[in-house]
Amino acid sequence: MAITSGMPVLRAPRAEDAGDLASLLSQLGYPADPRDIPARLSTLASSSTAEAWVAEVSGRVVGLATAHVIQSLHKPDVVAMLTVLVVDANTRHGGIGRALVQHAEAWAMARGATAISLTSALRRVDAHAFYRRLGYDQTGVRLGKVLTPGPVPASAERPHQKTFP
Ligand SMILES: CC(C)(COP(=O)(O)OP(=O)(O)OC[C@H]1O[C@@H](n2cnc3c(N)ncnc32)[C@H](O)[C@@H]1OP(=O)(O)O)[C@@H](O)C(=O)NCCC(=O)NCCS
Repeated sequence: MAITSGMPVLRAPRAEDAGDLASLLSQLGYPADPRDIPARLSTLASSSTAEAWVAEVSGRVVGLATAHVIQSLHKPDVVAMLTVLVVDANTRHGGIGRALVQHAEAWAMARGATAISLTSALRRVDAHAFYRRLGYDQTGVRLGKVLTPGPVPASAERPHQKTFP
C-alpha cells in the first residue's frame, strides 16, 4: 500500500525491487548483489525498531531510506537514526530526498523520538548541504573502527545473561 499520495509514492520495499535497490546502494557506495536484497529486506522487516521506504516514480524505484529508533540509557527519550538515504542520480533535485527524510522523521516521531541524527562521510559535501537545507546541524564527529575477528572475551559471549529484576 502506498504510504503517501502524490509524487513520489513512498512505500515499503518489496523483493521485486531488488534490482533497483542494488543499483541505489551501489550509487551510495555499497555495491550489493540483487540476490542478497530480499533476505536483507526480510531481516529489516522483522525488526520493530527499523523501517525502510522506497520512493517510486512512474513504477520505478528511484529512492531509498531506512531509519532506526534506539532507546538508550543515558537519555530518557528515544532517539532516531537515519541510516540510509539515496536518490537515483537521474532523479535528484526533484524533492525526493526531502520527501524521504520528512517521512522518516514522521515515522520516528510517531515512535516517540525527540531527535534524529545521521552519520555521513566527510567526502559527501553535497549531501551535507542537502541536510543543512532540511534543518540538520553538525553536532559531533563520527569515529569508526573496523572490527577484525579475533579471540572473543568470555564476557562478550554471554550477551543474554541479563539478571535485572
Ligand atoms: C543527498 C540526496 C539524497 C538528496 O536527494 P534529492 O532528491 O536530490 O534532494 P531534494 O531534491 O529533495 O533536495 C531538497 C533540498 O536540498 C537541496 N539540495 C539537494 N542537493 C543539494 C546539494 N548538492 N547542494 C545544495 N543543496 C542541495 C535542494 O535544492 C532542495 O532545496 P529547496 O527545495 O529547499 O530549494 C541525493 O543527492 C543523493 O542520493 N546523493 C548521493 C547519496 C548520498 O550522499 N546520500 C547521503 C548519505 S549520508
